[in-house]
Amino acid sequence: MRRILVAALVCVGCNSAPNETPDLGLMLDPSGVVIPATDQRPGDATRGYDALVNRGAVRCGVPYNVFTKVMQPATPDLRLPGRTGHNADLAYNETASIAASGVEVVSPNCLTCHAGKINGTLVIGLGNTEQDYTTDQSDQLALAKQLGPMLTSDPLELAELNKFADRFIAIGPYTVLTTLGVNPGDNFAAVLLAHRDPVTLAWSDTPLLDLPPTIGVPLDVPPWWRMKKKHSMFYVDAAHGDLARVEMAAANLCTDTVAEAADIDSYFPDVRAYLESLVPPVWPFPVDATLAAKGKPVFDGTCARCHGTYGDAGVYPNLFIPLDVIGSDPVLAVGSSQFADRFLDWWAKSFYGMTTTLAPKKGYVAPPLDGIWATAPYLHNGSVPTLAALLDSKTRPKYWGRTFDSTDYDLAGIGWNVTVYDHGKAAEPDPTTQKKIYDTDTFGYTNTGHTFGDLLSDGDRGALLEYLKTL
Ligand code: HEC
Ligand code: HEC
Repeated sequence: MRRILVAALVCVGCNSAPNETPDLGLMLDPSGVVIPATDQRPGDATRGYDALVNRGAVRCGVPYNVFTKVMQPATPDLRLPGRTGHNADLAYNETASIAASGVEVVSPNCLTCHAGKINGTLVIGLGNTEQDYTTDQSDQLALAKQLGPMLTSDPLELAELNKFADRFIAIGPYTVLTTLGVNPGDNFAAVLLAHRDPVTLAWSDTPLLDLPPTIGVPLDVPPWWRMKKKHSMFYVDAAHGDLARVEMAAANLCTDTVAEAADIDSYFPDVRAYLESLVPPVWPFPVDATLAAKGKPVFDGTCARCHGTYGDAGVYPNLFIPLDVIGSDPVLAVGSSQFADRFLDWWAKSFYGMTTTLAPKKGYVAPPLDGIWATAPYLHNGSVPTLAALLDSKTRPKYWGRTFDSTDYDLAGIGWNVTVYDHGKAAEPDPTTQKKIYDTDTFGYTNTGHTFGDLLSDGDRGALLEYLKTL
């Protein structure tokens, strides 16, 4: 059995404000729409970490007794500090908790997608870019169901195992992507909404809404530390309001009653506070300070009008940029998966929509660039492997692959070392290689747009890249 059986992502609410000019002392891009701040429920980051690693928000899973029959305790490098009880022996992306049935279960958690490795170190909050969503997991889960009676004779445990497997069997076909490393989070969310009554949250084995297309939108999981600055959630500025409630919805695989949702919601302001307390990893290699200092004015002159300024007096403008200006892959922004109208309606009627709004826009948020060196590949679909290629669009590789070894880092380009192919997926006979090829000719995977670095001289671009290492 695979160590991790994945989790459930759901998303949420939003509203848009007229183009107001915040007093940031910064000239903003005229195309940008300022995203307004909303009050958040107070939370405690220390309690939030404890909740994140010790409390099971996903209330179903593999019975602990079954899990320990097939799995060894996690190796030390996969364990997290501050974990208690059975969680102390589990890997960072697994959580043990007691389900409503009274059975202790092991579930995937947020860190399945939101912990990643850079230079061999696991960083909480860094998006996981090493995942494999290229196979339909439902077959594997159907097999687990068949094997169930050999692993436990306890009817309650068996029922839990089947419940968990059934959820993944429902999601499976809708969360398959063609390429390694990208994430189908938005399709995940859509399928889970489709199977639930919005008012009672009760699960229905048959979908109550039309399901999303089986061709999922590929996403690069964004780093959590951006939430310290961001006023809304998601690439397309989709979720506004009480962000703790949006975040808890990402654990809704088995949140089947409003009472359970309210219980999880009661401690999620702490989890939100923890997310916002995270700081990005610092560039671990030497920096040419003189060159970086030359890059700062280049950044301030070319990039700050969308991305803000950095350092002690830095300001972040929270700007949404329309699709025709940014020009990056349109598939996510034009909305299929979880941002299709029927899912937005579902949201508005549900517990989640009571304090939040889900209203995606046709374009992308210009994200904070803190710790940007560690978050390759770039753009919302992860189509550009390095910062150097992002800032000189003619050098972006059309067909590329990486080793998924987090130490295979491109120090000069800032991002991943890549193998460049002379052909795309369709012309690749070997299925294993085919999955590795990031093919920017395919639907949802294009690497167009964001050409703001193209006109810089090589000297300015070099200085800018050095400066970006310091953010
Ligand atoms: C299956 C993978 C997956 C899981 C599990 C998951 N997420 Fe996410 N998360 C994503 C993806 C993908 C996005 C980007 C979605 C988008 O912007 O459309 C995202 C976005 C976010 C964002 C917004 C970041 C930003 O910059 O706007 C937050 C906050 C977040 N997730 C928190 C959580 C929390 C808390 C959990 C656990 C309760 C969780 N996620 C579980 C994949 C996942
Ligand atoms: C007109 C507004 C605008 C300007 C100017 C701009 N950007 Fe961006 N930038 C964006 C938007 C919007 C995105 C998100 C696009 C997407 O994900 O598809 C983005 C994404 C990025 C990313 C990728 C973030 C990630 O984690 O994937 C980096 C890095 C970046 N910009 C750096 C720069 C630099 C450096 C400059 C100056 C040369 C610059 N940008 C100029 C709007 C802008």
